[in-house]
Amino acid sequence: MTDARQSALEYAHQNNGRFLDELKDFLAIPSISTSPEYTPDVRRAAEWVAGQLHSLGMDNVQIMPTEGHPVVYGEQLKAGKDAPTVLIYGHYDIQPVDPLELWTSDPFKAEVRGDNLYARGSSDMKGQVIASLKAVESIIQTGALPVNVKWFIEGEEEIGSAHLGEFIKKNAKLLEADFCVNPDAGMINADSPTITYGLRGLAYFEVRVFGPDRDLHSGLFGGTVHNPAQALAELIAGMHDKKGRITLPGFYDKVRKAGKAERADIARLPTTPKHFLKQTGVPALWGEPDYSPEERVSIRPTLEVNGLLSGFTGEGSKTVLPAWAMAKISCRLVPDQDPDKIYKSLIQYMKKNAPKTIKWDVKNLHSAGTAITERDSVGVRAMAKGLEQVWGKRPLFKREGGSIGVVVELQKYAGVDSVLTGFGLPEDNAHSPNEKLHLPTWKKGIDAFINMFFSVE
Ligand code: BES
Ligand code: MN
Repeated sequence: MTDARQSALEYAHQNNGRFLDELKDFLAIPSISTSPEYTPDVRRAAEWVAGQLHSLGMDNVQIMPTEGHPVVYGEQLKAGKDAPTVLIYGHYDIQPVDPLELWTSDPFKAEVRGDNLYARGSSDMKGQVIASLKAVESIIQTGALPVNVKWFIEGEEEIGSAHLGEFIKKNAKLLEADFCVNPDAGMINADSPTITYGLRGLAYFEVRVFGPDRDLHSGLFGGTVHNPAQALAELIAGMHDKKGRITLPGFYDKVRKAGKAERADIARLPTTPKHFLKQTGVPALWGEPDYSPEERVSIRPTLEVNGLLSGFTGEGSKTVLPAWAMAKISCRLVPDQDPDKIYKSLIQYMKKNAPKTIKWDVKNLHSAGTAITERDSVGVRAMAKGLEQVWGKRPLFKREGGSIGVVVELQKYAGVDSVLTGFGLPEDNAHSPNEKLHLPTWKKGIDAFINMFFSVE
């Protein structure tokens, strides 16, 4: 092992307590990108990240505006023109915390319990951002970076990165790099370092159904006015058939079939049906019978109801026939499905199936493209080595069910390929109450990053 690498690892181990304190500071900022009332906090998180880049001694640190939340940029190109350049991606925004009453501790007052640190954003992905920052700090404080680095930390990932494509187009030159390392993808379990080579896309909708011009007395009008909550439920129920297949017209037209070899690889992953039962606590699994649970969340598209709202939902009872009903519905997409086409097929479904008794409206809220990345590239080789040096085994390769919009857009507008990895676990409760970060895995993640920087060919 090179002395430089060894010194950086030692520095990281000695300073882990302080790294953890800084992570706690970052986690105290409620940078919820979807809620306008948190916009000042989102801004504060961007400034916090910029402050970190300044203290790292990065050059050209900027908080760059977009039509939405800003991008934080910084670079250090001291390794020289002949050295490779690594673009480090992250997002400083987080998901909302509701339902708050299910949190054991304050989501913005990070608390260590056992091996875990509990706070919103700890796993997805402020912990990962800090891991990359601290890996670079450890190298710089004990020597010099063997590669050039550029930071690209956005604030709209959790709401679909709507303004990022435009940003990348405009700043393609600035973002130029040999590869992008993106630690927003998580790992299969704490003993299985993972590289993700595929992401599902997303198409997110709000469907509204309108009935009477006001809430009605259900005794006076129930039976002669079609209840919008019922009409919406009927429409939603019709979106899947008995086999769990989606019924929107043309929905599966562009779905790329996975080959035999790839399906055999997927079958070897440790994500058995038991794994899914254990991770979720459901009494039985559900989905297309011709595909394994792991396939259903990676190579197959889905349609989910994310939320439902209608009528009286308070304590007690109220006999009312609601004026309207609303559902948030999203589809996870696989190559080569196109979010805009999926919007059109939902509209077609509604036109065909919505009864005359109601009016309806569908809003196309946001989307993300699907991605398949190289399984063998400079970035993948460097990351794989970095992971192997820490875990003592080769990483598993998997396709992920989640979406990360930037991956497609970096490829399309800047020609930069991403290597996806991460140190978040399936049981970290990302997007759920009691989100947590497994600290021993996080520490290994910092080491893996350090090793990765020293392994770029
Ligand atoms: N980190 C996740 C995505 C993810 C999770 C990838 C687990 C791989 C493994 C990311 O922050 C996320 O949640 N993205 C959103 C994007 C959407 C709003 C466009 C998602 O997938 O819901
Ligand atoms: Mn997320």
